Amino acid sequence: MSQAQAELCDFFFALKQLAAKMPLPNSATTVVATTVRPARNLAGSLRLPGDKSISHRYALLGALAMGVTELENFSSGADCASTLGCLRALGCAIEHHGGSVRVQGRGPQLELPAGDLDCGNSGSTMRMLAGILAGQNFASVLVGDESLSCRPMQRVATPLQQMGAQISGSEGFRPPLRIQGAPLRGISYHMPVASAQVKSALLFAGLLAEGQTEVEEPVRTRDHSELALRAFGAQVTRSGNRCSVAGGQKLEAIRAAVPGDISSAAFFLCAAAIFPESNLVVDGVLLNPTRAAILDVLTGMGVRISVLDIEEHHGELVGTVQVRHAGRVCGARIAGAQSAALIDELPVLAALAPYTEDGIEIHDARELRVKESDRIAAMAENLRAMGAEVDVREDGLRIAGQQPLHGAEVESFGDHRIAMASAVAALGASGELRIRNAAVVDISYPGFFSTLEGLLQR
Ligand code: S3P
Repeated sequence: MSQAQAELCDFFFALKQLAAKMPLPNSATTVVATTVRPARNLAGSLRLPGDKSISHRYALLGALAMGVTELENFSSGADCASTLGCLRALGCAIEHHGGSVRVQGRGPQLELPAGDLDCGNSGSTMRMLAGILAGQNFASVLVGDESLSCRPMQRVATPLQQMGAQISGSEGFRPPLRIQGAPLRGISYHMPVASAQVKSALLFAGLLAEGQTEVEEPVRTRDHSELALRAFGAQVTRSGNRCSVAGGQKLEAIRAAVPGDISSAAFFLCAAAIFPESNLVVDGVLLNPTRAAILDVLTGMGVRISVLDIEEHHGELVGTVQVRHAGRVCGARIAGAQSAALIDELPVLAALAPYTEDGIEIHDARELRVKESDRIAAMAENLRAMGAEVDVREDGLRIAGQQPLHGAEVESFGDHRIAMASAVAALGASGELRIRNAAVVDISYPGFFSTLEGLLQR
């Protein structure tokens, strides 16, 4: 990242932090704040909108397949709508009504878009689509919102350039990304950063390339792309942390129901872990082992978790999970590969930490600093505003247990997971939490606040 870019991104972050400290002015132009009131218990059952990671991948591969891909329970989040919008701009006919999506596949060749491709807030859209655009016979430009425009793209550009595409970003390889597609050649690539988005971009590019593309990841990341490619009829091999795909394989459309999003479920699972009388059942939720580490961590902390049934659909495990409190919730130390496996759940684990006996320590999670916001700084700021002591390091946090929280007014930092994690932290506090710009939850989970409200007892 260049000095100028870094300063600009730091400036936006500092602005948001400043905004969080200012009293809310009473005017129509004010950013709306959502109030979360403390609760006495959480109980009931819920079913979640489709998993965001899987929804993106089924839509992208549906576009490259032959035939019509029919999806149910497609993610209701704005991120996946960004993927559909880009695919439409690339010539795919798409029908989208509620959770039902029909993608008319075009095969490997997409259409020259009339303008820039708007990825909104979605890093997954930009990085995974970059892999597909690298293999097209036209040039395209991927743009994003203020947050996405600060996120690193070099990690995906470097290997795609090695495969033959020409890619440039703005200074520091931030978006907009300009991609001149080309006939690609397969490569063998060792990823320096654990990123399922980058792995997926390379596998999708590999499908369009000549020869074999092999990707080795430093630690195992979510494997939805490998499973989805197989579901659409391609062969993908895996050995240890290495997977590979041969170019030129044809994809066939699928019909699928997207499993409920486990990263969204995590907010409710952690909320249930706060209350001694809680009892929550989550139906139809994704239980893919590369995504379900939150269940292991909570179990390790003493939360009683039962998997009531389990099925497999297109290689993905789906089931019903019941969560109950077990009298005491101890703490956890999360590090190494576990931090990568829990990358989207770490903010809500931080929110749970003050309610545990021994606190939560997170290491090796530097990637949190380059998500939709700097999630380490954002969670530290919000928990401190509620009265907690938080130790911050470059790659993680330590939050002691048994810290009483009080009401406050905090910022979402324009980050859906920070808004939802802060809401969870508020549930056992002594006063109300006002979260500014909490509507950002729509990025992954419109309806989050009303669903949460429906499960709470006061
Ligand atoms: C995702 C991968 C992760 C995750 C993101 C979704 C995916 O990002 O944080 O929310 O669907 O592949 P990275 O690939 O940057 O780790």
